[in-house]
Amino acid sequence: MNPSSPLKIGILGTGHIGKTLVRKLAAAGHQVKVANSRGPETIEAETLATGAQAVRTEEAVNDIDVLILSIPLVRIPDVAPLIRALPSGVVVADTSNYYPHRDLKIDAIENGQPESLWVSEQIGRPVIKAWNAIGSGSFAEKGMPQGAADRIAIPVAGDDEASRQLIMRLVNDTGFDAFDAGSLADSWRQQPGSPVYCTDLHYDEIPAALAEADISRLPKRRDLAVAVFQERAGDSVTNPNADFGVQVSRIIFR
Ligand SMILES: NC(=O)c1ccc[n+]([C@@H]2O[C@H](COP(=O)([O-])OP(=O)(O)OC[C@H]3O[C@@H](n4cnc5c(N)ncnc54)[C@H](OP(=O)(O)O)[C@@H]3O)[C@@H](O)[C@H]2O)c1
Repeated sequence: MNPSSPLKIGILGTGHIGKTLVRKLAAAGHQVKVANSRGPETIEAETLATGAQAVRTEEAVNDIDVLILSIPLVRIPDVAPLIRALPSGVVVADTSNYYPHRDLKIDAIENGQPESLWVSEQIGRPVIKAWNAIGSGSFAEKGMPQGAADRIAIPVAGDDEASRQLIMRLVNDTGFDAFDAGSLADSWRQQPGSPVYCTDLHYDEIPAALAEADISRLPKRRDLAVAVFQERAGDSVTNPNADFGVQVSRIIFR
């Protein structure tokens, strides 16, 4: 694979994060196919405006270089059979985070298994954890060209060096610096409640934020932020706007 050539990318999910991934990666020149759970006719024209194609889930995973999962973590086992059947060369990236109020209680994660290792077990292959630590508002609004002084950075974790580098390239294409955060075993450092999570840090700030993460405090801090967002919105599905989300995350997580 030529490191700078356009890629064939399948994306599952057109929600808060998926729809922005679709728009940005198609705008960057990649060949993007996207599916949600309700069918291609339900995917909004705005999501497809930069050239992506709306398809069924089975088509989204066919003949691709990269698959990006952007669905609730609890839904990943539903698509696992399709992913298990992919050729080994397809790189799978995952944006998901574990939220017990949405994903029900998953004992292995509650007992400390890094969320992406659980995902990897479900689909029977390695994943690259990316775009999980940027809020949907910042992701949609705060991307900048490479080299911009105030560009926000996103941690990317995964065990295969070449796959991690490939997804870091795609993170760059979406308007953010990609920080190499190392192995999936260490990826709990970028989970909800951690100092790097949705706090819109710059590249130079990320090493200290990852190092300061305290695994014993993440769930409590995550749940405190959820309580603030839900009280403000009056429901459990509305995402905070970019500035409010970042302010609250910085106060609670850092
Ligand atoms: N929201 C954030 O700020 C944020 C930030 C970073 C990471 N994340 C993580 O990224 C993931 C997606 O988050 P989100 O906020 O974008 O979720 P969301 O708004 O709830 O959207 C979820 C999407 O997944 C689709 N989906 C569910 N099951 C599917 C299946 N079996 N096949 C294909 N598509 C399926 C849904 O389809 P329908 O549209 O048909 O319902 C929907 O488009 C979550 O794990 C979340 O924790 C979220």
